[in-house]
Amino acid sequence: MDSKINKGDVFEVQVRDVSFGGDGVASLPDGRTVFIPYTISGELVEIELTSLHKRFARAKVLAVKEASTSREVPPCQYFGTCPGCQYQHISASKELNIKQLQLATLLQKIGGLEVLPQDFTAIDSIDHLGYRNKMVVHKKLGQWGYVGKDNKSIVPIKQCLLAHEKINEAYSNLQSKKVQAQFRYSRVSGIHFHEKGDSFNEVQDEVNSMRYHCMFPGFFQVNIPVFEKILDWISNRITGDLDHLLDLYCGVGIIGLNFADKTNHLIGIEASKSSIKLAKKNAVNFNLSCDFYDGDMKTTLPKVLNKLNLQSQKFSIILDPPRDGCDQEVIEQIAKLQPKQIFYVSCDPATFARDMKRLQEINHYKLKSAVVCNMFPQTSHFETVGLFEV
Ligand SMILES: C[S@@+](CC[C@H](N)C(=O)[O-])C[C@H]1O[C@@H](n2cnc3c(N)ncnc32)[C@H](O)[C@@H]1O
Repeated sequence: MDSKINKGDVFEVQVRDVSFGGDGVASLPDGRTVFIPYTISGELVEIELTSLHKRFARAKVLAVKEASTSREVPPCQYFGTCPGCQYQHISASKELNIKQLQLATLLQKIGGLEVLPQDFTAIDSIDHLGYRNKMVVHKKLGQWGYVGKDNKSIVPIKQCLLAHEKINEAYSNLQSKKVQAQFRYSRVSGIHFHEKGDSFNEVQDEVNSMRYHCMFPGFFQVNIPVFEKILDWISNRITGDLDHLLDLYCGVGIIGLNFADKTNHLIGIEASKSSIKLAKKNAVNFNLSCDFYDGDMKTTLPKVLNKLNLQSQKFSIILDPPRDGCDQEVIEQIAKLQPKQIFYVSCDPATFARDMKRLQEINHYKLKSAVVCNMFPQTSHFETVGLFEV
């Protein structure tokens, strides 16, 4: 290791990649990888090292010597200090391209995938600003804003360009004695407001022209137009005429209910009791036999499977777990059941890739199709959907 390199040193480096998380990647003269936020592949940048580790370093950009043609002026005054956005300096098409490359890399590195599926596409968001239907803000020393990168401080903001315009309108009039508040924009009923300590409310929202009851606060897809495109993507690949469709981590049931015409029976499982109550309420609008169960997936799935006799039945599974992905036991049960198709919707491509590997190892499920969905433009996050078949 070259001991001559120190924190605070300045180098000129060429960025070769943008890693998952948003940082540009380059090499230092001693071979160590250096991560540089707010840079783009191909750019020549002057950097200052901010931290040094055994195998890698972190740096900040001092100057962009040769800018990428995809570089743009960030629209938000808080970009760089606010932890919300990582890609405002990148054009929309390049951002989508970066995210697709990141998924491919993770599938190969974590998932051990040798060849990407032929059906490997990308879905962009219609809006790149104003797309979020939810905003959570915190107050410190009398100022409202987002929690900072250190997880302690507050970055005061007067508006968030990612949030729906009606949310920003409501936020500009925020008067609250509490330290946390959130806004939710519904296509059906407009703005809803919640401050710390308030009870939970039922809100209705519209997805693919159907109304659903959901919880506020509570999980709800933040960019509905992209969510609708995800449902279309699944709809174009799901085989119908099923005896059962299992919607695991179903929330208030929206994904499974969207495919009511593909199955004779829908089963939903979800940890939140209140979401399951609403899923049952939502199902009333569909002419379908449904059973919804609340409980932790690891323990509830085997109990539900005991009640069903899936042998010689035609069934498929939809998974939409939280960021941590599925428990190993859940993947094992699913793979051994041998569903016809497994659709996996994921907000974390790293855990998606890990679970893909497990599905392959346990019962030879292969990734037939995958799509990167820019559900969260300007940020380093994206949604992945995969279809697995044997
Ligand atoms: C990404 S959300 C998906 C919700 C739903 N599919 C939708 O599109 O609205 C993940 C859901 O998994 C639920 N969940 C988290 N951990 C769980 C667990 N261990 N067992 C069952 N459900 C869980 C959460 O409550 C949440 O509703």
